[in-house]
Amino acid sequence: MRKNIVAGNWKMNTTLEEGVELANAVNSLLEDHKANCEVIVCVPFTHLTSVHAVLNPELVKLGAEDCSAHDKGAYTGEVSAAMVKSTGAEYVILGHSERRQYFGEGNELLLAKTKLALENGLKPIFCVGEVLEQREDGSYNDVVKGQVEALFSLSAEDFSKIVIAYEPVWAIGTGKTATADQAQDMHAHIRKVVEEKYGKEIADNCSILYGGSCKPANAPEIFGKPDVDGGLIGGAALKADSFMGIIEAFD
Ligand code: 13P
Repeated sequence: MRKNIVAGNWKMNTTLEEGVELANAVNSLLEDHKANCEVIVCVPFTHLTSVHAVLNPELVKLGAEDCSAHDKGAYTGEVSAAMVKSTGAEYVILGHSERRQYFGEGNELLLAKTKLALENGLKPIFCVGEVLEQREDGSYNDVVKGQVEALFSLSAEDFSKIVIAYEPVWAIGTGKTATADQAQDMHAHIRKVVEEKYGKEIADNCSILYGGSCKPANAPEIFGKPDVDGGLIGGAALKADSFMGIIEAFD
């Protein structure tokens, strides 16, 4: 059956020293209280190697927040999937709404990134989600379907390695979370879209995470829904205690 996962997305926060301290704090809380789900921290590129050195891989997995759509070469400032993999990272967030919105990332580019991540042995955490206007005009199911379908040229074997994160853009960093029922409805919709393409077994085994103002107080209700398999956590992942409080929703 599919895995429950709580993943932190640190975004562009923490200096290297602060990041290593945070990773250490998360690791030691998990040494004292083993998680009942997979725990991942997705950290800035500059932190990957140092954070990898302090994490116990039995307790916490490591991920990056993005990777390049190019394999290698003259792309100044880019970081390739192979480089990410070489740090010890296992996961990579792709298609986060902040990348889509602020850096113009669309379906074609995200498919290229996803393929390179998979070729290099990384597991993508592929983000989808509608903006407020699309929630209000009722087009949100179609919007998210289109974002998931962007990956449908992948083989079934490749698609089965992907974790999906549903993050309604209007709930990210706003303190306004989707209700547990809104999350469940969308997650069930995503699972159905996956099932229609790849069949029931792959759909049933696909972990679909919720993201957007997840906190220790609301995580148990949201994660308690049958199609919600955990969370992708922004702000609350920047403090070891609140991140741990969300992980404990699975106790
Ligand atoms: P917040 O938890 O800060 O709303 O961020 C969610 C998110 O974007 C995780 O990727």
